[in-house]
Amino acid sequence: MSLQQFIEQLDDLAGSARQAFMAAADSEQLESARIEFTGAKNGQFKLIQKQLGSIERGDKPLAGKRLNEVKQEIQNAFDEAAERLAGGQVDGERDPKVDATLPGPVQRIGRLHPITQTINELKDIMGRLGFTPAEGPEIEDDWHNFKALNIPDIHPARDPLDNFYLSTARHSAPSLGDNPLLMRTQTSTVQIRVMENRQPPIRIISLGRVYRPDTADATHFPMFHQMEGLMIDEGVNLSDLKTVLKLFATSYLGDEVPIRIRPSFFPFTEPSVEADYYWNGKWVEFGGAGVVDPNVLSAVGYDPDKVTGFAFGLGVERLCMIRHQITDIRYLYTNDVRFLQQF
Ligand code: DAH
Repeated sequence: MSLQQFIEQLDDLAGSARQAFMAAADSEQLESARIEFTGAKNGQFKLIQKQLGSIERGDKPLAGKRLNEVKQEIQNAFDEAAERLAGGQVDGERDPKVDATLPGPVQRIGRLHPITQTINELKDIMGRLGFTPAEGPEIEDDWHNFKALNIPDIHPARDPLDNFYLSTARHSAPSLGDNPLLMRTQTSTVQIRVMENRQPPIRIISLGRVYRPDTADATHFPMFHQMEGLMIDEGVNLSDLKTVLKLFATSYLGDEVPIRIRPSFFPFTEPSVEADYYWNGKWVEFGGAGVVDPNVLSAVGYDPDKVTGFAFGLGVERLCMIRHQITDIRYLYTNDVRFLQQF
């Protein structure tokens, strides 16, 4: 065989090996191409190498040199292909029809629960009105949940059927002088905790869970969230409350929203009101509010002749449901991703 023929064969081999390695879609295909071209027994390279013996003596050094070069080229092409397959497209699963330059499928990542989103938004709106968040425990005592809020010992709100009492007090009404523990039924507890620890002026909100032994239905759930608001200073009155509620409703619902207040009763406010806003053609209840009762101010050691204030308590689920037209509170707590991923 002439030197030229020998070199041509080698060059052809290098070209086909490179092509075969590049076309391999997975490591199995790459391996069979490797065996075909560089297999130790019958690989094509080996067959050509065997022909070296028929090359003229004087041409042998050149032929040998080229043989080594091609061997190295094939090895490099193989290494490149192996590296490409290891770069995420291996495992025999790569679809040759995939266009790697296109964006990948949309990844489903988690998101915040609609109630958490609502809470964050409420904090944001009230923050702009100067109200800072405050926290209190979900397991409370009688003093913070009832007594300091001017709810007398014999008040029906303390009924064991309406509260989750803890430990020994579970099956009996708390007796006078007792300070039993319970799951808080309202975030008004945080008003007391804040006032016990700070002096006026006070402007806080508190967002958190409350618990009541209600049977779950479209509008009730044994656990829900409230936003409590409290502002105490010299000369704070009912019209300040109305302004804050109006600004809040307008910010949250994004429109100029009419609001109204109706007379009501809560032991911890005097006067007490129920606030409604006008939304989608009807009056919707917001929650309770009022001017903080002087007995509450005295209970925390404030002087009711010096400072006054207002308070309000709104249901977070209700605000979230109205905004998103959710018709059943249970959807919020069933953890069905088909529901949750809409938010
Ligand atoms: N705590 C009341 C409830 O759970 C709501 C409420 C009413 C809170 C009037 C207040 C208030 O701060 O002033 O039903």
